[in-house]
Formats: sequence, C-alpha cells, structure tokens
Amino acid sequence: MIRRAIVKDIVGIAKLVTQFAERGLMLHRSLEDLYENVRDFHVAVDDEDNVVGVCGLNVVWADLAEVYSLAVHHSQQGKGLGSRLVEATIEDARELGIAKLMSLTYEQRFFERLGFTVVDRMTLPLKVWSECLNCPKNQACDEIAMVYHLDVPSIEAPKPGKPIGSIIELPVLADDMEHPDVQSES
Ligand SMILES: CC(C)(COP(=O)(O)OP(=O)(O)OC[C@H]1O[C@@H](n2cnc3c(N)ncnc32)[C@H](O)[C@@H]1OP(=O)(O)O)[C@@H](O)C(=O)NCCC(=O)NCCS
Repeated sequence: MIRRAIVKDIVGIAKLVTQFAERGLMLHRSLEDLYENVRDFHVAVDDEDNVVGVCGLNVVWADLAEVYSLAVHHSQQGKGLGSRLVEATIEDARELGIAKLMSLTYEQRFFERLGFTVVDRMTLPLKVWSECLNCPKNQACDEIAMVYHLDVPSIEAPKPGKPIGSIIELPVLADDMEHPDVQSES
C-alpha cells in the first residue's frame, strides 16, 4: 500500500535511505531532517505496516519541486512500488500547483518510463545545488538531471532573491500612549 508518511514511519525511512546512501545512491538524511520534513514523504508499506519504500517531494520554488530520497527495499523492487511512489509524488505536486518536477538520478530509464526527460543540469536554478554542498560527490557529480512537466495553470513565479513587498515599519508609540492600562501614581 502507498500512503502518506506519519511520524512512526520515520525510523523505517531512515533505515531505508541509509542503506542506499551508504552505496552512494542518495544523500544521507538525519532523523532530525526526516522528522522536520515528514510531510514531504509518501511510503510504501507491507502487510505489517513496515516501510518498504519511500519518496519525498521538496518544494524548491513557485514552479519547481524535487523528487528526493526515492528508495524501494531490494526485496520489493520490480513490483511497481517505485513507480507508484513517484506517481503519488507527482499528484502531490499537482495539488500544490507546481508546474515542474525534477530529479537528480542514476535511474534514467526508470524515470523515462514515468514521463521524465533528461535536461542539461545547468538549466536548473542555483537553489537546487545548495544540497550538493553536503554531498561527497560535490566536485564530481555524475547524476543525470531529469524533469517532468505538469499540466497545472502557469503562474508568474517571483525571481529568487528579491524580497516581496516592503519592510513593515512598526509604529512608534508616543510616550503618553505607552502602557495605557498602567495608572499613574500621581
Ligand atoms: C529505482 C527504484 C526506486 C525503482 O523501484 P521499483 O519498485 O523497483 O520500480 P518499479 O517496480 O516501479 O519499476 C517500474 C518499471 O521500471 C523498471 N525499472 C525499475 N528499476 C529500473 C532500473 N534501474 N533501470 C531500468 N528499469 C528499471 C521496472 O522493470 C519496471 O518496468 P515494467 O513496468 O516494464 O515492469 C529502485 O530500484 C531503488 O530503490 N533503487 C535504489 C535507490 C535509487 O537508486 N533510487 C533512485 C534515486 S533518484
């Protein structure tokens, strides 16, 4: 079964991610990071409700989100769970109104079957690369950048780095207006 992750799934998600992170297939995720971002994840669970697959959705910007920490336990691979996890994640992005999904991956054929296409990684916004600073392959990344376009109404996305609106200025209270409920002793 595929469902949204809940906090009791986090230890199972951490174990799964660690197995593949140790083989250099994805980034490690701390428990703190996973609990904080529990709403990002869908999980595949077995009949005893143990986590056997996971996929996260990280919103990068108004028009872009990343599929991350996609993993299916090796004993359960090839049964369609990975595809269904990505499809659930695509639905999540659609509900949020996000126009484009991306993945940095070695699994090009798997993602192509789901409708993703390969793009030049340099076309992805700089913000995407912030996580790469934590990656041991930072200087020699060989992952393939892939994107999936959703048919959601297009919106005008603000430019990164530009503040929206003006800085709110707090009104300065005149001396005699301060603490109006405190009675003067005189
Ligand atoms: C990639 C992964 C998530 C796929 O999960 P899965 O549950 O095995 O995938 P599915 O069963 O949904 O496979 C869907 C189709 O893709 C194919 N497929 C799966 N993995 C594939 C691969 N590595 N290369 C090519 N095709 C693949 C399957 O044969 C299946 O084809 P079919 O529909 O014709 O039968 C899983 O192999 C995995 O956890 N890999 C290790 C972690 C990893 O690399 N994650 C990706 C990080 S971006």
